[in-house]
Amino acid sequence: MQRNCRAAERRKRQVLLPFLLSLFCGALSQQIRYTIPEELATGSLVGPLATDLGLSAQELPARKLRVSAEEEYFSISAESGDLVMSGRIDREKICGKKSECALEFEAVADNPMNIFHIVVAIQDINDNAPHFTAKYIDLEICESASPGVKFSLDSAQDADVESNSLKIYTINSNQYFSVSTKESPDGSKYPELLLEKPLDREQQSSHQLILTAKDGGTPSLTGTTQVRIQVTDANDHAPVFSQEVYRVSLQENVSPGHPVLRVTATDQDEGINAEITYAFHNVPTSTSLLFRLNPHTGDITTNGTLDFEKTRSYVLGVEAKDGGVHTARCNVQIEIIDENDNAPEVTFISFSNQIPEEANLGTVIALIKVRDQDSGHNGLVTCYIQKEVPFKLEPTSKNYYKLVIDRALDREQTAEYNITIIATDKGQPPLSSSTSVTLHIADVNDNAPVFHEASYVVHVAENNPPGASIAQVSATDPDLGPNGQVSYSIVASDLDPRALSSYVSVSAHSGVVFAQRAFDHEQLRAFQLTLQARDQGSPALSANVSLRVLVGDRNDNAPRVLYPALEPDGSALFDTVPRAAQPGYLVTKVVAVDADSGHNAWLSYHVLQTSEPGLFSVGLRTGEVRTTRALGDRDVTRQRLLVAVRDGGQPPLSATATLLLVFADSLQEALPDLGDRPEPSDPQSELQFYLVLALTLVSVLFLLAVTLAVALRLRSSSSSSTGGCFPSGLCSKSEPGVLPNYSEGTLPYSYNLYVATQSAKAEFNFLNVTPEMAPPQDLLSDDPSAIVCASNEDAKTTYDPSFSSHVSFCKPT
Ligand SMILES: *[C@@H]1O[C@H](CO)[C@@H](O)[C@H](O)[C@H]1NC(C)=O
Ligand SMILES: *[C@@H]1O[C@H](CO)[C@@H](O)[C@H](O)[C@H]1NC(C)=O
Ligand SMILES: *[C@@H]1O[C@H](CO)[C@@H](O)[C@H](O)[C@H]1NC(C)=O
Repeated sequence: MQRNCRAAERRKRQVLLPFLLSLFCGALSQQIRYTIPEELATGSLVGPLATDLGLSAQELPARKLRVSAEEEYFSISAESGDLVMSGRIDREKICGKKSECALEFEAVADNPMNIFHIVVAIQDINDNAPHFTAKYIDLEICESASPGVKFSLDSAQDADVESNSLKIYTINSNQYFSVSTKESPDGSKYPELLLEKPLDREQQSSHQLILTAKDGGTPSLTGTTQVRIQVTDANDHAPVFSQEVYRVSLQENVSPGHPVLRVTATDQDEGINAEITYAFHNVPTSTSLLFRLNPHTGDITTNGTLDFEKTRSYVLGVEAKDGGVHTARCNVQIEIIDENDNAPEVTFISFSNQIPEEANLGTVIALIKVRDQDSGHNGLVTCYIQKEVPFKLEPTSKNYYKLVIDRALDREQTAEYNITIIATDKGQPPLSSSTSVTLHIADVNDNAPVFHEASYVVHVAENNPPGASIAQVSATDPDLGPNGQVSYSIVASDLDPRALSSYVSVSAHSGVVFAQRAFDHEQLRAFQLTLQARDQGSPALSANVSLRVLVGDRNDNAPRVLYPALEPDGSALFDTVPRAAQPGYLVTKVVAVDADSGHNAWLSYHVLQTSEPGLFSVGLRTGEVRTTRALGDRDVTRQRLLVAVRDGGQPPLSATATLLLVFADSLQEALPDLGDRPEPSDPQSELQFYLVLALTLVSVLFLLAVTLAVALRLRSSSSSSTGGCFPSGLCSKSEPGVLPNYSEGTLPYSYNLYVATQSAKAEFNFLNVTPEMAPPQDLLSDDPSAIVCASNEDAKTTYDPSFSSHVSFCKPT
């Protein structure tokens, strides 16, 4: 356009110069003016220049009418002299926006040379549509923009001028915007966009409008462009949480970092306005240390271990903030779920670790408290005692138990108890714990000493050394200490209390019983002691036991010949034997006793020496002297028989008896024989001799009577059915009885003792037996109380303390 303008000026100057030349040359040139529309085709007639210049067709070749050489658009037809188009004229190119557009140039004619000014005015035609330079117009309008706000848009260009120029802008119909056409100071028209209605980005974030520019031509031309409106966000929305309150349950003991939940807030804004950051709000520091909140994602995780027992729930305030000033808040409620992570605890609140064994049932030994920090089932605790102990748990109040004695205690059975109390909760799986205590049972003197045997019997051979230990008793007491220390003493005996200590003593410490003297079986066959074992408790307990000491026999006594008794001068009395005595005639009987007992007193009789061998025999056991044949005249009247009496002891002891036997039919006959005897030297001894003689006779009579009775009885008792035996030691008063019929040789004595059943029918009288004529001892029993007796009430018993035997003799009347 500028260039076009300068060309026009240059052309003006070119036109002006010939004009001035013509002025000076005197050739006045005319100005010819034509008007043509732009864009005429080449060759189109602009105007009949030659005609208008007054040149005739004949002159034309000579005048050589022509346009100036540099003219590009026009030429002059040589034949007609018309001005025709030789190029295309675009008015907008040449004149731009100028409303008047004309091309001036000179036409030159020779002969004479004339210069003519030609002005060709070029008229505009509507050949240009309005045109927007940009295909799109991009606009950003904040949603917060209020209606009425205007936005100037780029104008469209229309090269045409005047009526063909751009006249008006229009926009496609829409509810938000309208457009108006404004004129800028330079006259150009621009569109102005008007916001009719508030925008909402959240509803519609962009708008597309078609802006149309229309020119005034006929027909009018239009040009369009697209207006793209981006509604920009205004921070007009606060974030909103998806829930106002978030509730979540969480197991306790989850490891740190465990996800809890995610809070989500949304903001309808966009961009930075929708960038939400999360933070704890109004959360105590202690709690905020336990949880971690991701400020960008809203993820809440644990940052420590949660303990139900410390805190059962948390409330976290969370604030969401967008890029602007808007915030929102929510609460996160976290319930902690209990886990059975605490074992029950057992605590002894009070405990007496020692209790006497005599303590009553129900005595409280300990008070126990159980505790489980868990809750619900996890904290329900049951308690029991492990193993079988004589104690039980009694619940007192919630979680408290009494440990009481359930069964009687006995320290001697169990001196201490390890009591283990186990507490188990009801969790899944259950947890349990145990606590042990040791309870000592204190001793009480509740056990008397106990002898190892119910009673003791010891045999002590007589003639023991004094001081010998003869027995030992022992008792034990299971109690402890002094309660179990036993000492022994003698508390009773059947000995004379004054003499007791001279017989026996007991060691208090060891229970050994000592003989204090040598015992004599013949004096004391047995005695009984009551020994006491006594502990040192307070009060002391004791036990008695009987100790029976049996003094055993030793063969320490030789047999003693009772008959025939020796005369003081050493000679024996004589017995008469009738000359007519048949063989087997009982001449006499040697009677001997032995203080010992048993075999030691089992006597046997032997003929040691005889003046007429074969004439007499002595019963081995009976001592009966019998004739073995009839006496002959050749037999010496006086016979001497030496009989040995031996006991059965080991070694045996013996005694001898000398028998003088006189064959005579009467005492008178016998008496002279006595004359052979040495005369007594004095009257005193003579008197004694007669006394002895009388005594001997009485004895002989007695013997005869006894023998007779024996013989009679032997015969009758063998057929008797009423007779019985006396067991030794038994004295029967009502039952008729008889001693066993011992055959000869089984007893040291062949006395058979008879018992009458009725006192009225008594067949026996009793002889008084002097102690010197002590009866034989009973061989069947060691028992000093053994009594051989007749039941006859007439029977007179004798008691010889030296033998401790009761012996009765019976004699038939
Ligand atoms: C997480 O715990 C550690 C150690 O207990 C502590 O130093 C840290 O500050 C905690 N973090 C948060 C976000 O509470
Ligand atoms: C009790 O426990 C203690 C120590 O554990 C042990 O020495 C003792 O023998 C136990 N007693 C009983 C009666 O089990
Ligand atoms: C033991 O014997 C003594 C004397 O006879 C008597 O006093 C005491 O009570 C008896 N003790 C027992 C336990 O029998």
